[in-house]
Amino acid sequence: MNNNNIETIKAKKNKAYSWKNIRPIYEAVQKVKKLEIQDIKVSLGDTVQIQTAQDISTQDIQTIQKALALLIPWRKGPFEIFDIDIQTEWRSYIKYDILRPHFDLKDKVVADIGCNNGYYMFKMTSDKPRKLVGFDPSALCKLQFDMMNHFIKSDIKFELLGVEHLQLYDHKFDTIFMLGVLYHRADPIGTLKQLKNALLPRGEVILDTFIIDGDGDMCLTPQSRYAMIPNIYFIPTIKALTNWLGRAGFIDIEVLNISQTTTHEQRATRWTFDQSLANFLNPDDHNLTLEGYPAPKRAYIKARVL
Ligand SMILES: C[S@@+](CC[C@H](N)C(=O)[O-])C[C@H]1O[C@@H](n2cnc3c(N)ncnc32)[C@H](O)[C@@H]1O
Repeated sequence: MNNNNIETIKAKKNKAYSWKNIRPIYEAVQKVKKLEIQDIKVSLGDTVQIQTAQDISTQDIQTIQKALALLIPWRKGPFEIFDIDIQTEWRSYIKYDILRPHFDLKDKVVADIGCNNGYYMFKMTSDKPRKLVGFDPSALCKLQFDMMNHFIKSDIKFELLGVEHLQLYDHKFDTIFMLGVLYHRADPIGTLKQLKNALLPRGEVILDTFIIDGDGDMCLTPQSRYAMIPNIYFIPTIKALTNWLGRAGFIDIEVLNISQTTTHEQRATRWTFDQSLANFLNPDDHNLTLEGYPAPKRAYIKARVL
């Protein structure tokens, strides 16, 4: 898809509708869902790739391009669909590859809380879980998922629900992923208890969240924004995070990895907004955010219940 097409649709989207007006985006995705493209091959490498041996008409490609552009910002990926290369804000395979050695989802009932557009879940299908359910209250994320899943045809279930709704859900889970969500919660220990209560006996949680360095039982509470992100509540030391998990009832708490987010992993592309991590760090010192806090660093954790 050429730059001009995306830029034109992006500009029209900015002008004509609020970014939160989901109807035109929904309608564009419904048109895509009417397309019947045969001989589809899906590859689940670093890029989730959808290809076909069939010739696709110009009209059908335009229908797909329009929906893809209206679905901007694409944050998690990358995806490639019929040779259209969607370089997302995040190279999400970096996080996936950190976690990959630490789970086996064969025959398990699995949830991904805050699943965004389903990128990780598409990759998880290669493990053949018994059931895979994504929870995310964002309508835009669900439409991105619907668009991709129309061609991928997975059995993944996407629920427009948040972590706070888990306790009301139909069933419990063997494995729950909750990646990049805990720092958005005003009550992190309460949220961890909700995860614990949604697990089957001996079930496990895999999560990542921002942390600060230090040995004490301490947390950073940003005054307002953190690296320009508005809704970040608590950023603990590893010790404080471990305390939260213990107080929520988890055992066998393992720190799998600690990494500072790089501008290689999170960057602005033409499929997202015009700014990303590089714009949100102190230009003179990339170890600090614009607000003067320590730059984003994540801990990856695995823990289980009895
Ligand atoms: C920072 S993104 C993380 C996405 C992905 N899990 C990852 O780690 O790359 C946070 C995600 O949580 C979703 N979210 C927002 N509120 C939520 C809630 N109450 N429960 C679950 N997910 C939520 C957002 O829509 C978004 O997709």
